[in-house]
Amino acid sequence: MQFDIMVLPGDGIGPEVVAEGVRVLQAVEKRFGHRFRLSEDLVGAVALRRYGTPLRPETLEQCRASHAILFGAVGDPGGDDARIIREALFPLRKSFDLFANLRPVKVYPALAHTSPVRPEALHNVDLVVVRELTGGLYFGRPRRQWRSRQGRQAVDTLRYSEREIERILRVGFRLAQQRRRKLTSVDKANVLESSRLWRQKASEMAADYHDVKLDHMYVDACAMLLIRQPASFDVIVTDNMFGDILTDEASVLAGSIGMLPSASLGKPRRDGTAFGMYEPIHGTAPDIAGQSKANPLATILSVGMMLRYSLGLPGEGDLVERAVASALEQGHRTGDLARPGERALTTGQMGEAVARLVIELH
Ligand code: IPM
Ligand code: MG
Repeated sequence: MQFDIMVLPGDGIGPEVVAEGVRVLQAVEKRFGHRFRLSEDLVGAVALRRYGTPLRPETLEQCRASHAILFGAVGDPGGDDARIIREALFPLRKSFDLFANLRPVKVYPALAHTSPVRPEALHNVDLVVVRELTGGLYFGRPRRQWRSRQGRQAVDTLRYSEREIERILRVGFRLAQQRRRKLTSVDKANVLESSRLWRQKASEMAADYHDVKLDHMYVDACAMLLIRQPASFDVIVTDNMFGDILTDEASVLAGSIGMLPSASLGKPRRDGTAFGMYEPIHGTAPDIAGQSKANPLATILSVGMMLRYSLGLPGEGDLVERAVASALEQGHRTGDLARPGERALTTGQMGEAVARLVIELH
């Protein structure tokens, strides 16, 4: 099969890790005889320097003509980070209506010791956070700062429509059906009106999903339980802001934020696939950029998600995940995962190891 993939490496360690994602994609191409036609463009601070804008309209158009986007990270800590987020990251999410952000958190047994959480609690941790990505506090209007007689004031707006809540909950219910059939809807319904609507909607929809066990949980309690009993979760569905915070927290379980992939998906097509943007959740990591130290596994696992969710190739997606697990079992470690005294691979060596396994694994 033939697919068009838009590659946007971005800033910081983005280009280093995306190169390894591409290497693994090419290994899949070779093994299965698919054809992935890659286009690449600048986005973020590099694009701002080169073109005067962090995301050109023609880049967006080329994304639109693709089956999926492979994204690294954008940002410029010394520069105008807020502008890059507002003019590159958010337009990508919004233009393609990528409302469903899937962030799986899996603890590989070989890495249980790298997390500060007790290894006993990490046994069998395999959860997915479904984060609403195009609404809520991130986009609500009004949002502004002004001066008043009482000094400066600011407002942000947390608004959700029933339609926005319903479509993200549906993604959560359906995903739970394909997994262990447990859905935890996370809100702050003891305080927020938008959360009360969220909770009502979840309860109403539960009638359509008899096979799924729905629980409601307040976000503060969820934050605690994620550390105390992370294995008790299957699918968590929550709003934009809560999902942002809980997924950074959950990354601690996996031992390194360098292990966490993500998919940002639009409306599902009839065949169950969806247009999507795939990216590691770690960001640009400017402290280690350009040193070939970054862990490429989050990006490689994001490629696995792309194969599954946008290209309709679940077998190929599974193989990428198994190759990552197997590389870890064989003792391959980048610096973020290595114990004192253990040899750390470069970004490229780790990518090569996984790509080789993609070719060789049974
Ligand atoms: C994430 C990031 C972004 C977000 C930032 C960079 C705006 O933290 O993808 O989790 O909050 O959505
Ligand atoms: Mg975040």
